[in-house]
Amino acid sequence: MRIDIITVLPELLKSPFEASILKRAIEAQLVEVHFHNLRDYATDNYKSVDDYQFGGGAGMVMLIEPIDKCISKLKGERHYDEVIYMTPDGEQLNQGITNQISLNENIIILCGHYKGVDQRVRDMFVTKEISIGDYVLSGGELAAAVLCDAVIRLIPGVLGNETSALTDSFQDNLLAPPIYTRPRIYKGITVPEILFSGNFPEIEKWREDQAYKRTQERRPDLLKD
Ligand code: ADE
Repeated sequence: MRIDIITVLPELLKSPFEASILKRAIEAQLVEVHFHNLRDYATDNYKSVDDYQFGGGAGMVMLIEPIDKCISKLKGERHYDEVIYMTPDGEQLNQGITNQISLNENIIILCGHYKGVDQRVRDMFVTKEISIGDYVLSGGELAAAVLCDAVIRLIPGVLGNETSALTDSFQDNLLAPPIYTRPRIYKGITVPEILFSGNFPEIEKWREDQAYKRTQERRPDLLKD
């Protein structure tokens, strides 16, 4: 998979890709991530990437020309399956959407900044608009990092244990069950006996029951679908 990220703040975005699972995924060439500084595509001498809103109002709007130039250059080099715009008024990200995105070959992620992009960018280029929650961030960069993390860990081979992503919370609309490791007793608090039974079908059943119970208690909305 190849991910091209268009941003006015590449330095804000880079560090999540320089550690742990994302770093290893890039080193193992399971994913390529490229950053494009929108300022490099500015069309005037001031390197402008934004301007005042027509009609008045607080906040700057990202210009269409640099974005068009950057996206058109990328599209001239290869086919892209999606152009994703990170915005608080997009569709709210969930595991189903990350699963779908992880199946793509090449995607572009456009990070909004200031008040956001000129509407014509959305109308002309964007194929998917994604929000990571009902709150407003200073820009789309951190949201893009969240999306990339959620997507990249699903690419086959990225996680050590292939089944591990399949047992994450949300993969089957259930939260994950409780998990335990050493020591068996800590300050008098024990681990459920069933986990030492060696009876794996029973352990699996216990985990399913716990996942269901936890979901019912914390996120009953997930059980409605
Ligand atoms: N940009 C600003 N806030 C955002 C959010 N909640 N999700 C995605 N992109 C954003």
